[in-house]
Amino acid sequence: MKKWIALILVLVVCMSLAACSSKGKSLEDIQNAGKLVVATSPDFPPFEYLEGDKVVGIEVDILEMIAEELGVTLEIKQMDFDSVLPGVQSGKYDVGMSGITINEKRQKNADFTQPYFLASQAIVVMADSNITCKADLTGKKVSVQTGTTAEEYCMANGYQVNAYQANNDACSALTSGKVDAWVVDNEVALDLSAQTNGATKVLDEAMTTEPYGFAFAKGSDTLVAKIDELLTAWLDDGTIESIFEKYDVPFVSPKK
Ligand code: ARG
Repeated sequence: MKKWIALILVLVVCMSLAACSSKGKSLEDIQNAGKLVVATSPDFPPFEYLEGDKVVGIEVDILEMIAEELGVTLEIKQMDFDSVLPGVQSGKYDVGMSGITINEKRQKNADFTQPYFLASQAIVVMADSNITCKADLTGKKVSVQTGTTAEEYCMANGYQVNAYQANNDACSALTSGKVDAWVVDNEVALDLSAQTNGATKVLDEAMTTEPYGFAFAKGSDTLVAKIDELLTAWLDDGTIESIFEKYDVPFVSPKK
């Protein structure tokens, strides 16, 4: 009797461990559910932003096409950027869509598609600033969005970092004079800087190169494989590039 109880306990522990270690869903799981639940921080034009209360942008277009190929609908959930990856890793959402930079640290905790675009970090300053390059940032106050590669990079470089949950607040910190510079992904820098009507400018010197991809919980193997297959085809036949053209953004291929 005791042996049986022990055996059952061992089985229960094993099963719950297996459930914990793999939060990822299979292609079949998604198709059975009929929807792809997307976590996003829509403060990142032109990749994802709000038009009224609708989330639109380059990545929304790409995921809409993916959903159509899978025969499912997209269900978009909005949150701050620093909640996107944790939510995906825990299995709460199926996919993270947020101009997410693929790097080794993140790959330890999440699965990623292949990159579909090559971005960089840009420096935004006030139009009359005497900061002209990266070297001028030493000892300066810099705003970033919480949880981003910009935050990590600026901390590592020893700048005085002010981190904000919302990208727009990181931008306002610059325009209201709280910081000397704002570090953010290059295309977003150009887009949001243009919205300040000449008050700010984006410096020519970029700081990093960063491939963007979509994030999934560990163990989403068949799902990621299917999406990679679609991305490969669309990178090869110019479909991805044409989406960038639609938004008037120069396409930088992730393929060397
Ligand atoms: N590419 C940067 C990163 O992955 C910034 C992404 C911020 N995304 C957003 N939707 N606000 O850390």
